[in-house]
Amino acid sequence: MDAPTTTSADNGTSGGGGGWFTPRNTPATTGSTDTGVPDQERDSPHAIPTPAPTAAPSAPAPAASEAATAPSAEPRVPPQRHASTSSSSEPAGSAPAEEASPDAVLIRRAMAEITPVADKVTSYFYALLFVRYPDLRSLFPAAMDTQRDRLLRALLTAAEHIDNTDVLVHYLQNLGRGHRKYGTRPEHYPAVGECLIGALSKYAAGVWNEEMEAAWIRAYTTISQVMIDAAAADELRAPPWWYAEVVTHDLRTPDVAVITVRPDQPYPFLAGQYTSVETPWWPRIWRHYSFASAPRSDGLLSFHVKAVPAGWVSNALVHRARPGDIIRLGPPAGSMTVDHTTDSGLLCVGGGTGIAPIKAMVEDVAEHGERRSVEVFYGARTDHDLYDIDTMLRLQQSHPWLSVRAIIDEQAHQQLPDAVRAFGPWNEYDAYLSGPPGMIRSGVDVLRSIGVPSERIRHDSVEELVAAWS
Ligand SMILES: Cc1cc2nc3c(=O)[nH]c(=O)nc-3n(C[C@H](O)[C@H](O)[C@H](O)COP(=O)(O)OP(=O)(O)OC[C@H]3O[C@@H](n4cnc5c(N)ncnc54)[C@H](O)[C@@H]3O)c2cc1C
Ligand code: HEM
Repeated sequence: MDAPTTTSADNGTSGGGGGWFTPRNTPATTGSTDTGVPDQERDSPHAIPTPAPTAAPSAPAPAASEAATAPSAEPRVPPQRHASTSSSSEPAGSAPAEEASPDAVLIRRAMAEITPVADKVTSYFYALLFVRYPDLRSLFPAAMDTQRDRLLRALLTAAEHIDNTDVLVHYLQNLGRGHRKYGTRPEHYPAVGECLIGALSKYAAGVWNEEMEAAWIRAYTTISQVMIDAAAADELRAPPWWYAEVVTHDLRTPDVAVITVRPDQPYPFLAGQYTSVETPWWPRIWRHYSFASAPRSDGLLSFHVKAVPAGWVSNALVHRARPGDIIRLGPPAGSMTVDHTTDSGLLCVGGGTGIAPIKAMVEDVAEHGERRSVEVFYGARTDHDLYDIDTMLRLQQSHPWLSVRAIIDEQAHQQLPDAVRAFGPWNEYDAYLSGPPGMIRSGVDVLRSIGVPSERIRHDSVEELVAAWS
């Protein structure tokens, strides 16, 4: 692969002071203010050149189905080793030291220092960013709430796995495309990089040195360039977001709504994928929701949303949204899609609203006219929570290859994954899991324990990158 191609990486990416964002020494601990940011840290750093997209993509706009998955510009990642940890069977950080590149070793050393104080690192990072670059504050939600650590967590995880280029590049391209909806621009990346180094050097002070700083700068340069290039390529073929009008709102239980929306322009996606949604009531707060139907000829999209206690977006969608309201949608994402190049059976496990993408995938198989076995396990706490069982049973009646089993915790006295195990063997099936994170984790454990290879188990989560190594 090519050498790092961040435009300004040519300026030198070492920690010697010549990087494309100015590396800083450990901030002094005196003179701090209520933000926790020392006064001297408030000063803008030296002039920071702005990275530019490296590849001017010239490919014509792809067909709808390609647009949802096609990689963008050729990724440029330094020729680092492909560690064997790219398989999903090895936990993060468990790669034998001799397989990691020197930069990865340095990065992991810093990670070991900061992991126990991750909350403080996050607070300090945002304080630095908003004090030094107040203009960037308006890109972020007014309330930096429970999910505010996602940016930093993703950055650190990406840096930690800088050797695993295949998984990393795919993830970062998606992330870069998704960042267009926040209004992120190439010139914002140096600011974030600089504040990352500021926060790391403070909280990993015990091990921090020039060599380590240089390793982080190289990793950040690589990460941001992949995101910038993917965003630039995406600009040529898709808007940064879509407006969509709510056309129907069906409250199926006191806390689950099925919502159908009409996007303002064609929205290409694949069954099994998800998007991000922003409501008019909580600007700049985006949450993920899975498409509950395969792409339809009328272009409408539907979602199943469960209001969680004190949840910002889910409560707005379930209890406030009405036909005529306009929401915003980000680009499609997620790899929990049907592989139509094989005819293996599909084992689909959906808990709660996790049934939504599974219903979409069943419709997708039906539309492709395939006769492959699809076994759906639909889990819920009580039978009242099986809000979409009628639809699933109707699908079962129409398609002899489909079997739907409802598993109710209360009656079965067993968790959904255990019920799945009881109906095995599943080692000839491609497995898809969708639902609460706990269900996905135990589902993956159960499936692996009964011999389903990891590469045949698919699921999505916000922590897609973390999940790839879990
Ligand atoms: C890939 C993906 C697809 C998703 N698809 C769907 C979908 O199709 N339908 C759907 O309803 N949701 C889906 N989600 C979950 C959704 O993105 C939000 O996390 C959820 O709606 C809560 O958002 P919120 O803004 O209402 O709550 P937040 O404001 O983020 O959270 C408020 C409080 O609720 C807690 N909380 C968050 N989620 C839950 C939960 N599930 N149960 C109990 N407490 C919780 C938080 O820890 C916090 O304390 C999906 C998530 C991912 C990652
Ligand atoms: C290499 C660098 C970066 C990484 C790895 C990264 C990663 C992330 C991740 C994982 C999220 C969570 C939501 C999502 O998945 O979209 C996020 C949110 C966000 N990022 Fe980034 N990001 C980076 C750079 C930037 C830059 C340069 C900006 C612009 C200032 C930015 C602005 C935002 C905003 C506004 C949000 C939404 C915040 C929220 O929902 O609380 N990011 N980022």
